[in-house]
Amino acid sequence: MSNRLPPAEPPQHAPVIRITAMPSDTNPAGDIFGGWLMGIMDMAAASAATRRARGRCATVAVEGMSFLSPVRVGDEVSCYAEIVSVGRTSMKVKVEAWRREREGEHMNRVTAAEFTFVALDQTGRPRPVPAA
Ligand SMILES: CC(C)(COP(=O)(O)OP(=O)(O)OC[C@H]1O[C@@H](n2cnc3c(N)ncnc32)[C@H](O)[C@@H]1OP(=O)(O)O)[C@@H](O)C(=O)NCCC(=O)NCCS
Repeated sequence: MSNRLPPAEPPQHAPVIRITAMPSDTNPAGDIFGGWLMGIMDMAAASAATRRARGRCATVAVEGMSFLSPVRVGDEVSCYAEIVSVGRTSMKVKVEAWRREREGEHMNRVTAAEFTFVALDQTGRPRPVPAA
């Protein structure tokens, strides 16, 4: 799969998470660690899925994770999450992360992926996603 995505503008809706990349989020080379960003994207997707399913959910798959450009220490990272489809017990959530340089206005997309979440009951088994 190509790592290139078409040019885009930041989503018009509010981000689920907005956070500043800190020195503690770097890898040994001093660049922001991809796993840190994936964790934030998972949290954003989980928030959207849990809200839609009105209860406990778990990540079951992540597809099409693309790292498009680096994140630097001090960048403001915004994670946008949107439910794109709902199955019987599962939901697909599109997540994009955008960075803004700390001292500027320009934003660019740094990652995108599609997360699949499953709604769970109290015993951890799949349960139907309720009607919207
Ligand atoms: C979530 C979990 C309970 C689902 O159990 P399961 O036996 O796979 O359940 P099912 O086969 O009934 O599938 C449930 C739904 O998930 C979907 N699904 C399961 N695996 C999938 C995958 N790899 N990719 C996409 N969808 C998947 C199924 O299509 C089904 O969707 P639908 O009901 O909307 O048609 C189980 O996979 C699990 O506990 N996984 C670990 C979750 C977890 O710990 N996540 C955090 C990782 S640290």
